[in-house]
Amino acid sequence: MVNLIEVSKRRNQIMKKLGKGLLIVSSLPEATYSNDVEFKFRQHTDVLYFTGFPEPGTTCILEYDGDKVIYHLFVRKRDKLMETWNGRRFGTEGALEKFKADNAYENGELEKFILDLFKKYENVFYELGNNKSTDELIISSIQKAVKSQDKTGKGSTALINPAFEIHELRSIKSSYEIELLRKVAKISAEAHTRAMAVSKPGMFEYQIEALIDYEFRKNGSKGPAYPSIVGGGINGTILHYIENQDELRDNELLLVDAGAEFDSYAADITRTWPINGKFTESQKEIYQLVLDVQLACIAMVKPGVKFWDINEKSIELITKGLINFGILGGDYDKIIEDKGYKRFYPHGLGHWLGIDTHDTSYVDRKIETLKPGHYFTIEPGIYISDEEDIPEKYRGIAVRIEDDVLVTEEGYDILTSDVVKEIDEVEKLIGSQVLP
Ligand code: GLY
Ligand code: MN
Ligand code: MN
Repeated sequence: MVNLIEVSKRRNQIMKKLGKGLLIVSSLPEATYSNDVEFKFRQHTDVLYFTGFPEPGTTCILEYDGDKVIYHLFVRKRDKLMETWNGRRFGTEGALEKFKADNAYENGELEKFILDLFKKYENVFYELGNNKSTDELIISSIQKAVKSQDKTGKGSTALINPAFEIHELRSIKSSYEIELLRKVAKISAEAHTRAMAVSKPGMFEYQIEALIDYEFRKNGSKGPAYPSIVGGGINGTILHYIENQDELRDNELLLVDAGAEFDSYAADITRTWPINGKFTESQKEIYQLVLDVQLACIAMVKPGVKFWDINEKSIELITKGLINFGILGGDYDKIIEDKGYKRFYPHGLGHWLGIDTHDTSYVDRKIETLKPGHYFTIEPGIYISDEEDIPEKYRGIAVRIEDDVLVTEEGYDILTSDVVKEIDEVEKLIGSQVLP
């Protein structure tokens, strides 16, 4: 359930940052799964962040005159028939009582109210591109408000994208959020541990996926925060492999990237392990390199450090390691200059994490200096194809190790550390439990 104090604090914080005007955030449209069946609805992250209101068809308008913030919430109309078929609605009454909106309206009234509000303010803060019908309504209402300017002497003139300010605010996690992030990290780590413990050759990728889903749900999560990646052998080299259909074979690695969503917050963990419980020598070499890189990168995390400097470190260490194994040939400086390492390490070191798995992307990882409360993944990986120019013993090996790291005043805290990653610990865990 929504934390009313927390969401109210956020509404005040964002309007102080943006200044006088109106901030508008809206639900995304519902998406069709098949015919008249829809995907499960998930509220747009900004709507969740400022209101906690979970239903589709919602628009939140924050009105700020430089003194106080007025919270208007437009929600779906109560409808007995629709509620019998598709579930309960809070309606305007619930918006007022349970979500403490200052004013609640049925969403059909948005057009009428928006024009009056627009005539009062010069700045409308709204991010275009999420919801076509709200976009159209806002643009046409701004035009109408501007046209009425001569008569009233006032009128909204500027449409300003607030995404950067919103993301900047969202990127620093509060102590309330950190507790939720700890909880979802713990649920996710437990699911990985369980998957590792029951692994054995002959299982199928989807069985591991199903077990992880079950472990998430069993512990109160809504399910995965993103489609789980369960890739055995060469499938692990496909970065967003989500088919999860193949059999897990002896002597191959299994790469599992899965994180739960709990109370809207996400975790994002990857572990890679030998399906039969014992790394081969070449798997061990690649795995240990990725692990060493990950540990070295995590050790750099503290306030004042640039995320991108840690990213550069991961490139340096992976490139040197791959040269050492004879997988990359030639001059180190030239490989760095030509980005030759990208064939084996094609993604960045990590991303911000929070309500979205790929959170607050307007906060530029290339320039941002770490601050306490920043939260992100550290996920180096090496993906080796089975092409002929690769030394045979390394072909088809894919390793990624991903943890979720919080920046603290002193340094860092790894919230996903409950799931093991050292080679001896991993080998010991695999096959130690059986599925009922
Ligand atoms: N699970 C998606 C990612 O690691 O970025
Ligand atoms: Mn990630
Ligand atoms: Mn991941």
